[in-house]
Amino acid sequence: MYKREDYEAAAHVITERCGGERQIALVLGSGMGRLFEEVSAVLPYSEIPHFPQPTAPAHRGELLATDKAFIMCGRFHRYEGYTPEELTFYVRALRLAGVRKLVLTNAAGAVSPALRPGDIALISDHINLSGENPLIGRNDESFGERFFDMSEAYSPKLRRKAEECAKRLGTELKRGVYFYMSGPSYETPAEVRAIAALGGDLVGMSTVFECIAARHCGMEVLGISCVTNMACGVGGAAVSADDVEKTAGESGERLRCLLTEIIKSI
Ligand code: HPA
Repeated sequence: MYKREDYEAAAHVITERCGGERQIALVLGSGMGRLFEEVSAVLPYSEIPHFPQPTAPAHRGELLATDKAFIMCGRFHRYEGYTPEELTFYVRALRLAGVRKLVLTNAAGAVSPALRPGDIALISDHINLSGENPLIGRNDESFGERFFDMSEAYSPKLRRKAEECAKRLGTELKRGVYFYMSGPSYETPAEVRAIAALGGDLVGMSTVFECIAARHCGMEVLGISCVTNMACGVGGAAVSADDVEKTAGESGERLRCLLTEIIKSI
């Protein structure tokens, strides 16, 4: 169980090394690690107190800073063995480093037939039936209340702004409900049918715990999925990590332009 001082220690190093606070943080998902190269600071996670090391392929493990935003290149997943509390440590550290708006990106499988590999989709809401939550345990009231509302988990205001940005750029932006699965195995066809019946449009192995931790401490959240594959059984083909990474890479430039525009406008 982390203490407030642990988050403060991490925030202190982040602001010292990045030349101050930022109001926006962007978290890059699988295969998106090299989207932003023009940065003012590069801070390896290994130099930030209490930060875990990403072990997932295509997750770099560096915090970058631009003049407006912190950029997390590489995140932590449940399937790596990190607890929900450990994998959301960075969210509270960033809150103490000034962040009010958190943009979470990820690679996701398409459950809805309205989505295709290569699509970029706004997350309208999420479903977490894992039975896990990063806030299980003693509540630290200095971050937020024990019980809190999740009716606008993904900020309608930020979603509207993201839609305006996409329109300006002529980029098609789909939308969907993100269904969390721990992985690391991809879903079975029967699980994908169950996810569809329960209201999921996208399926992936990240994002929801971070969103919960961020809402708890009062951040606004924007979620964006890069659709890398049809979920198992939807398109007929098997799912492979290589395809996921390849498609995320191919959508990279469109996503980079969109994210740059969003950071400018929020
Ligand atoms: N399932 C779960 N996670 C994913 C997928 C998928 O099909 N694609 C990318 N991340």
